Amino acid sequence: MSKEIDTMTAFFPHTPVLLDTSVEFLIKDPNGIYIDATLGGAGHTVAFLKALSDGATLLGVDQDEEAHVAAAEKIGGDPRFIPITGNFGYLSTIIPTEYHGNISGIFFDLGVSTHQIKEPERGFSFQNDGPLDMRMSEMSGITAYDIVNSYDYEKLRDIIFHYGEERLSRQIAKEIIDNRPIESTLELRKAIENVLYGPHIIKSVARVFQAIRIEVNREMEMLKRGLKDSLELLAPGGRIVAISYHSLEDRLVKNFLKSGNFDGEIEKDFYGNPLKPLNVITKQIITPSDEEIQSNPASRSAKLRVGEKIEEV
Ligand SMILES: C[S@@+](CC[C@H](N)C(=O)[O-])C[C@H]1O[C@@H](n2cnc3c(N)ncnc32)[C@H](O)[C@@H]1O
Repeated sequence: MSKEIDTMTAFFPHTPVLLDTSVEFLIKDPNGIYIDATLGGAGHTVAFLKALSDGATLLGVDQDEEAHVAAAEKIGGDPRFIPITGNFGYLSTIIPTEYHGNISGIFFDLGVSTHQIKEPERGFSFQNDGPLDMRMSEMSGITAYDIVNSYDYEKLRDIIFHYGEERLSRQIAKEIIDNRPIESTLELRKAIENVLYGPHIIKSVARVFQAIRIEVNREMEMLKRGLKDSLELLAPGGRIVAISYHSLEDRLVKNFLKSGNFDGEIEKDFYGNPLKPLNVITKQIITPSDEEIQSNPASRSAKLRVGEKIEEV
């Protein structure tokens, strides 16, 4: 993963989603210390830096080296910005201990960025031919190739059903297995299309690619870990602002902000008082306006939620 990042980002900029709303909810203290846990092309980070004063600090986390290159180009040498390469699933390990308990806000803009999708070499796209990779980081243990060519039928069917929410998961899993070895993204797309019919074929292809990407990058597990670690890092009154793009990740975020766990059940103490670490700030879920969706169709499934830490947990 490397090369021609300049040309690539110039041609395929990632348009930040719900930008003004994210800034409004995240930045309560312009002098605070903040984490952008999904730096990407720094679209949000640049807006956060604009809203922060000279004494603030912004730690920008991304597991993708290419994202850091693109972000550095945009941010320049801003002394308030500290880049950190790593997985937000290990947030409390990768953020220096001096910041633990002192963070005013942590921002998650989940999923992949446009520059990752548009780069055929990365294997995220079913529009161009590329290797079956889909790793956001070279540190990821498995690639899409491993999943497509070695998972057994049940495992393949289950990830397509759960992570892709694709109802033809059984037929697609069987077809993938029957077509092995599958070497490239377009070969995978062809195998998926063999069992599809009707006007929404492309949506099903997208769902299967999404499912495999989630499995490659262990996105659900990392999101759970990242949210839990956030509690350790936030100062009382600090906020988690999270934008999710599909129902599984949104459910995890929603339950966690409500209860501090992933079932969404609020525990009670001996006296019946609720034991929850966060107050939900967004009583109504926040979604992009029609205008935003029209100008940036990639924003159409975005859902933004905000929680504020009540006390030390
Ligand atoms: C939707 S993009 C963020 C775009 C960014 N907000 C912007 O406006 O340019 C998501 C980014 O998060 C990164 N990412 C996803 N999961 C991650 C994880 N578990 N740890 C660290 N980075 C992650 C991806 O590599 C990608 O660059």
